[in-house]
Amino acid sequence: MILHTIGVLGMGVMGSNLALNMADHGYDVAVYNHTPQTTRQFVRMNPHEHITAYYDLATYIQSLERPRKVMFMIKAGEPVDTMIDKILPYLEAGDILIDGGNSYFKDTQRRVKHCQEQGIHFIGMGISGGEKGARRGPAIMIGGAKEAYEEIHAIYNDIAAKAPDGKPCCAYMGPDGAGHFVKMVHNGIEYADMQLIAEAYLLLKYVGAYDNRNLGNIFHQWNQGELHSYLIGISADIFAETDENHKFVLDYIVDKAEQKGTGRWTCLEGIEEGVDISLIMAACNARVLSQAVEREKAKQIYPSGDITVQHTDAFIEAVRRSLYAAKIVAYAQGFSLYKQASQVYHWQLPYQRIAEIFRAGCIIQADFLSTISQAYEGDSQLDNLLFYPFFIDHLKAGEAALRHVVAIGIASGIPMPAFTNAITYIDAYRSPCMGANLIQGLRDYFGAHTFQRIDQEGAVHHLWQEHYKK
Ligand code: 6PG
Repeated sequence: MILHTIGVLGMGVMGSNLALNMADHGYDVAVYNHTPQTTRQFVRMNPHEHITAYYDLATYIQSLERPRKVMFMIKAGEPVDTMIDKILPYLEAGDILIDGGNSYFKDTQRRVKHCQEQGIHFIGMGISGGEKGARRGPAIMIGGAKEAYEEIHAIYNDIAAKAPDGKPCCAYMGPDGAGHFVKMVHNGIEYADMQLIAEAYLLLKYVGAYDNRNLGNIFHQWNQGELHSYLIGISADIFAETDENHKFVLDYIVDKAEQKGTGRWTCLEGIEEGVDISLIMAACNARVLSQAVEREKAKQIYPSGDITVQHTDAFIEAVRRSLYAAKIVAYAQGFSLYKQASQVYHWQLPYQRIAEIFRAGCIIQADFLSTISQAYEGDSQLDNLLFYPFFIDHLKAGEAALRHVVAIGIASGIPMPAFTNAITYIDAYRSPCMGANLIQGLRDYFGAHTFQRIDQEGAVHHLWQEHYKK
């Protein structure tokens, strides 16, 4: 009897495509789904010499070579815990469970511990790239015990996307929840990136008065230059897409953005760790507000004002420059969160490798990730990406445009929380005075919280107006 290299458990879109990707690379894959008809349908539709279907959990697990590798591709949350408990009795010390879903990294930390107590390795694996990525090569972020990583990395290097220099977009991120954490923040950046693109769209549509066909062309043009990225490319496609009635699909999509949680978790982590990821938060909040049922009412009460149209190439260029500058801020905030988390959780996250594996396969793949990778190659402990010469130059070059575009957007009543946050973040970051001196004074006045003076060491309390004390 052939022992299979790996088992994929969960035959949804991602699980099916990953199994096929592995099989195409010559790995013998055992597949299983808790509903047998799903497995049956999968193998009927995708007959493959390297894929074998199983319908009984015990037989499925026994069919795997040791140490057994079982990759869960199931819904994040409680189903993962349920499946762990179901499968543990069939495993032996040294076997490896891999969770390839968008699980919350703190759940992964807990699961690693739980499995460890039984001698089983639990790997939390971030996978980005959607359906196509899973089939043709995703970006893969692996977290868990290093010795388990050594057992599985050949398979995942093979199935991962390859960057332009041929390197696989798959890497070890660190112990326990590091892989899922890196994926979570990837998604936070993804939210910011998409929100910035959406705001550029609104500006060009309403201030620029460009129609969908123009927008498709503009984004297509942008994708030939420094903004070259997966999201800009597919935005160009979306603008141009028409349905069977020759109507633009975009114009018929309800204006409410959904989310599954990873962006929100990123925001919570930013707050908890004390890292300003305001642009990512703005993007997350914009999705939340887009869902508000009372938007219709607000529209009636606060009608928008007139817009002075700027249908010029100069305006398009200002939006392009702003988008690039703001995008730098978004990624810098995401990487600042990586830096802080690495210390908080003792992970030693490989910032340079993170940027490298994001160069292909994943949703936020973009040309400028090569520059981010170079920045960390030069200084692995870089305080902030905004201090890297390339980004200093580009931010300085884009700052005036960003300021101009934000001013126009605000004057025109265009909602642009992400663009606004980008310039506000820069202004606050470099300001010699943020007003924090007054905040400290207020805190000390009403609560004797003390403050530090610029001319002496240590915390002091000032006896503010005596009548207040009485
Ligand atoms: C990816 C995507 C993927 C998924 C997100 C969408 O990297 O392949 O991020 O994981 O599309 O979960 O998240 P929202 O539903 O929260 O937008």
